Amino acid sequence: MGEGIKLPVLNGLGRTNRVDNWWSQPVAMAVALTAALVYTALRLFYYSPSNNYAIEYSVQGNTVTSPIFSPNILEWSLFDLNTWQHPDWVNAAILVLWIPFGFRGTCYYMRRVYYRTFFASPTGCWVDEPNINKMIGYKGEKRMFIINNLHRYFLYAAMIILLIKWWDVTHTMTFSGGRFGLTIGTFVMAIEAFLLTMYVTSCHALRHVAGGALDRWTTGISRLRGKMFKRISILNRSHGFWFWTSLAFVFLGDLWVIAVSREYGGLQDKALILWG
Ligand code: FES
Repeated sequence: MGEGIKLPVLNGLGRTNRVDNWWSQPVAMAVALTAALVYTALRLFYYSPSNNYAIEYSVQGNTVTSPIFSPNILEWSLFDLNTWQHPDWVNAAILVLWIPFGFRGTCYYMRRVYYRTFFASPTGCWVDEPNINKMIGYKGEKRMFIINNLHRYFLYAAMIILLIKWWDVTHTMTFSGGRFGLTIGTFVMAIEAFLLTMYVTSCHALRHVAGGALDRWTTGISRLRGKMFKRISILNRSHGFWFWTSLAFVFLGDLWVIAVSREYGGLQDKALILWG
């Protein structure tokens, strides 16, 4: 019997024998997530009734809603929400953002990201972690992380939001006077809805619901579910890509809405009338 191979593991946070820039990806992700959180907080609480977040174009009469404030339930006549006398600090995002937050926060990919970036657990492959992590150890999805087990239910809620996002896209195309057309806002909102669709349809939990929960995919419905499982598995390989691109477009969409608002940017959104 040989003596086995002694790995050249160095002790101490961040110490390693690796010679590549192993830290660059976690640092970039930490910066991106922190920026996303800070921007969202500012947008939520800096809001006031005079700061438009759903823009109605005076020229063509269509509506482009910021992805952060969508679904804009305060405009809904359902349950008379549009007549609700709410405090000034209440806006649509404050009421609905728990769904995308819950969905993204419990995402399997996101867990990998925040465990590495914010908890350094693990710091990286073959890179030593902080001593406190060694003392506590990984305890699984317990205590405050038990909420991660609700991911499937956040998925169901996110699917409803996704349908409403596509509904929002139709609002960007409906002009006053019964006319119908396209604006740059239509493309921005459609790209955002598309990227979110890809993120949702590549979800690990959706793959499980579709067919992963079954032992075999032999006949009838189970066979169909097996096919769905395989299709979702293909999308799932790029789940991280869809996570970041869909997240980025939430903010790009919001910036676009700010840019075309009369109050801030005043950019003109060119309309292409297709009908009416
Ligand atoms: Fe990422 Fe479901 S695993 S959204």
